[in-house]
Amino acid sequence: MNILLIGYGKMGKTLEGIARQRGHQIAGTIDVGDDLAAFAAPVDVAIEFTQPEAVVKNLMTCLDKKIPVVCGTTGWQREREAVEGYCRKQGGTLFHSSNFSLGVNIFFKVNEYLARMMDRYPQYEISIDETHHTHKKDAPSGTAITLAEGVLLHVQRKKSWMLGATQQPEVIPIQSHRIDPAPGTHVVTYRSAIDDLEITHTAHSREGFALGAVLVAEWVVHQKGVLTMDDFLKF
Ligand SMILES: NC(=O)c1ccc[n+]([C@@H]2O[C@H](COP(=O)([O-])OP(=O)(O)OC[C@H]3O[C@@H](n4cnc5c(N)ncnc54)[C@H](O)[C@@H]3O)[C@@H](O)[C@H]2O)c1
Repeated sequence: MNILLIGYGKMGKTLEGIARQRGHQIAGTIDVGDDLAAFAAPVDVAIEFTQPEAVVKNLMTCLDKKIPVVCGTTGWQREREAVEGYCRKQGGTLFHSSNFSLGVNIFFKVNEYLARMMDRYPQYEISIDETHHTHKKDAPSGTAITLAEGVLLHVQRKKSWMLGATQQPEVIPIQSHRIDPAPGTHVVTYRSAIDDLEITHTAHSREGFALGAVLVAEWVVHQKGVLTMDDFLKF
């Protein structure tokens, strides 16, 4: 396949290596200062890993150009519905995920399963911690937000999440830590006076995210609409 890489930073470069290993061609790379709208070489699929300020325009441009797009950029959940609506209107293909690693997606399911069980036990306070490298622009991480949304789906006593500490019993606090080097750790904690129950996922490298995104790109060229890891993994 001809893959267009939008964003040629840490993830863009890791994606390039994995895509080539899997026999794909890199149709081109787009970074700051390049004109995505004017890109004219043949493209089967675009993979977008940029930053929150850039992602929405890049996705819209891909949809305008009828290029299926796989997006890993985080921090744009407020615009998510509008972009998804535009994709459906255009009859395009948009796949997005806050995390492309298989392990994290299994972790998302374990998180929901645990939340369903813990709904019955209000003596447990719930919190989420995430640790990433200091270059990460958004906080909390998209993965932490997905974890919080998973808890909110099943635990009736929780109504929302917020970044930082809170005394409000209906709010899940998310603490973001930034240290180097740290590809990404997420911990969901249920704390009572008697004990703590924790589930943790720790990434060891970026390769898992990049491999997941390339595998999705291979699959998504045959799909239409707005898709996520649930559609791909079919857990
Ligand atoms: N979904 C996942 O599995 C996953 C995994 C890792 C990182 N991420 C997310 O992916 C994004 C990128 O991460 P990274 O570590 O590669 O960051 P990075 O800062 O190393 O790279 C981002 C690149 O995007 C470029 N860029 C900025 N504006 C642009 C624009 N308008 N058009 C094209 N390129 C532009 C920057 O110049 C930079 O080269 C972040 O949002 C991060 O949170 C997601």
